[in-house]
Amino acid sequence: MNDLLFDKEHIWHPYSSFINPDPAYKVISCDKVRLKLEDGAELIDGMSSWWAAIHGYNVPELNKSVIDQSAKMSHVMFGGLTHDPAISLCRKIIEITPEGLDKVFLCDSGSVAVEVTMKMALQYWFSKGIKDKNKFLTIRSGYHGDTFNAMSVCDPDTGMHQMYKGVLPENYFADSPECGYYDEWDCNKIKSFKDIIEKENHKIAAVILEPIVQGAGGMKFYHPKYLNEVRKLCDRFGILLIFDEIATGFGRTGELWGCDHSKVTPDIMCIGKALTGGYMTLAATIASGKVALGISEGKAPIFMHGPTFMANPLACSVANKSIDLLLNSNWRSKVKNIEEQLKNELLPIREMFSDKVKDVRVLGAIGVVELRKKVDVAKAQKYLTGMGIWLRPFGNLLYTMPPYIIGSADLSRITEGMYKLIENDEY
Ligand SMILES: Cc1ncc(COP(=O)(O)O)c(C=O)c1O
Repeated sequence: MNDLLFDKEHIWHPYSSFINPDPAYKVISCDKVRLKLEDGAELIDGMSSWWAAIHGYNVPELNKSVIDQSAKMSHVMFGGLTHDPAISLCRKIIEITPEGLDKVFLCDSGSVAVEVTMKMALQYWFSKGIKDKNKFLTIRSGYHGDTFNAMSVCDPDTGMHQMYKGVLPENYFADSPECGYYDEWDCNKIKSFKDIIEKENHKIAAVILEPIVQGAGGMKFYHPKYLNEVRKLCDRFGILLIFDEIATGFGRTGELWGCDHSKVTPDIMCIGKALTGGYMTLAATIASGKVALGISEGKAPIFMHGPTFMANPLACSVANKSIDLLLNSNWRSKVKNIEEQLKNELLPIREMFSDKVKDVRVLGAIGVVELRKKVDVAKAQKYLTGMGIWLRPFGNLLYTMPPYIIGSADLSRITEGMYKLIENDEY
């Protein structure tokens, strides 16, 4: 059995089935913004490996940090032990995240960070002896991961997890913010959120949101003022505010954090994906002193979570280096240039193919074409890989969020691929 057949018959891929799975392309190496396939083809990466590989691939400084750290200690348990890679990473995380967030919990992946965040919010109220505050409020079109609590705050109807309805914890969903990032702010657009919070606040432990950009729930960009209003309402009704910056973090939206567009600080924030520059799985939940001490001083003082690979030294070490690389680069202007080019090259598609395209939107290094019909992913990828481009559309969304190091010629090849795909109905 050849490798691809073995892969097809025996290995689960994300969001796949064993009956007629979409083809998996075999990658043998990656360098800068190119993925090299087994047959010799080279694809320009428009996905940053799902928001993570912001510096591109095979980055000498990141390679070295993994090699150097592995010669010292690849892993050691974090229960009762600590180490330099974790300490220096947590110092950096506290320095670069909004003021007031200074208690860091390191864990394995984005979904786990979301679980940790939600547990912290619940335990904060348990510790205070308030058991009724055990629900979450979020907005529709959100996505927070695939584990159980994370699924319970993903969009319950249009998201990926409808089949679990009835099994998942039940939470509150306000309408998705209808006020786009570039629209004029209209305070009526927060009415649904406000109505729920006014009515149900005594049952709500925390609000959880992806700030500014809703990713895998629909790639929507909403107005920064929405978050200012959310913060005010949470303060008024004594509800914790959680920002899931797992996709939006590390400069992707044009600011270091999505919440920087609004200058709002949450009570708890989770980060992941680009934390290690896409080298390794690592995520973090960062809480304010109020939350951490609220838990620790109360009736349930021990925070009950402790993954085996917590603070893995290899991952911490590469995350340290990745943050240094980002902060010492001119990431802001790189992201701005990508944004401008995406606007120039993608926005005209809306008028050109108005019969096929519902909307085109660009923010930071994210370009989205919302189509009127669902994309046949296998067909689209066959066409795009034939043009030397790697994109992975979902639903009716064709989108790109390339590594920040992409050059303008390569970015034009991506936008041209998107244009041609639509023009030739190759989806
Ligand atoms: C906003 C957000 N939260 C959480 C997650 C889950 O992260 P992971 O896939 O690392 O579990 C994702 C992943 O796409 C995400 O976009």
